[in-house]
Parts: sequence; C-alpha cells; structure tokens
Amino acid sequence: MKLFYSPASPFARKVHVTLLELGRQDVELALTPVLPGKPIEDYVKSQNPLGKIPALQIDTGETLYDSTIICEYLDSLDGSATLLPANGVERFTTLTRQALAHGICESVVAIRYETFLRPEERQWDVWIDDQRNKVERALNWFETHQDQWQGDIDLAQITLGCALGYLDFRAPDLDWRSKHPVLAHWFSTFEQRPSMQTTVPHA
Ligand code: BEZ
Repeated sequence: MKLFYSPASPFARKVHVTLLELGRQDVELALTPVLPGKPIEDYVKSQNPLGKIPALQIDTGETLYDSTIICEYLDSLDGSATLLPANGVERFTTLTRQALAHGICESVVAIRYETFLRPEERQWDVWIDDQRNKVERALNWFETHQDQWQGDIDLAQITLGCALGYLDFRAPDLDWRSKHPVLAHWFSTFEQRPSMQTTVPHA
C-alpha cells in the first residue's frame, strides 16, 4: 500500500495514526505537498482527480480517498475491525462523532488557508468567525458529552486527537484548552500514544 500524505495535514495524520494503531507495516509513505492553485499533475491524473490528500493506493492498484473511507477500509481488512463497531446504531453514532471531529479539522484548515494564504485586505472576517464558531460548538459538544465518546480507542477519538493536534499546530491563538478542560485532560493522555507521537504535525 502507498499513502500519499503531507506531515501537516490532519486528514493524512488520521489515516497514518489508523495504520499505526492497526499495526500495519506494509505501507510506503509518499510525500505529496498540495497547495491551492498548484495541482500536482501526475497525482491528479493517476491518484485523485480532486488533488486532495490523503489517498491510499491499495494492492489491487486502485486508489482510495477520502480519509474516512480509507480508515473504514483499513479497519475492515482481515476481518478484524477494531476501530469502528461492525454495524447497528453504534457504527453510525461513532461515524457521526468522527464527522464532528473531522468538521473541526475542515474549519481550522479553512481558517488557515484564509488567514495565511489570502492577502489580509481580501480576507472575509464574517466567514472566518463562522468557521471559529463551528470549531467552538464542536469542541463544546465533545467537552460536555464525554460519556458518549470516551472509552476504547476508535475512529472518532483518532479524528478528535488529530483535530486537537492541528489546533495546537496551526491555531494556538484559539487557546482551546482554556475553555475545554475535559478535552485537555483527555488529549494529554491520548497524545502520548506512539501512533500520535510518530505523527506530530510539521511543515
Ligand atoms: C497545512 O499546512 O496546514 C495543511 C497542509 C495540507 C492539508 C491541510 C493542511
């Protein structure tokens, strides 16, 4: 298997952490630096027409994307699913919490693009505030519903860990820990996992 990734992307980190948590060693890492307005022609043609990372080329030669689909695929291999309940309402509530944490990543990445890449005079404050409010509401949900997502590691926790790590990496000014002590406490343990330590984001 070959994982197309960037060490800064929380979505790629989610897949990399999942691979490590599942103990899969049979993966080659292919650094794929994506930037708005600069699609990598080969990658777009041969792997993902959207030009987004991560993507995973599997042993049949096919390429899977996006991150959630890749993680579901990895968890289904060898019939040994451990990161998602196999079926029933538990599967879909876990996927929904995963989607909530994934939404935090999307909003923080959007803020990053708007504030770092776009010239200051063309930035749209209302839209940035809207993204910040989405992040805040999602963090508040996790903060106040710990009984619904803590427990054995699953895909929702992995995605949440990657979201909090990305907040530390790209949005330390949001100071998420000050208003979310439950999350801060949980993350202080979660981020010690070898899978998280191996994948700490960097530029
Ligand atoms: C980043 O540099 O923050 C980034 C890179 C790739 C995907 C998402 C975010």
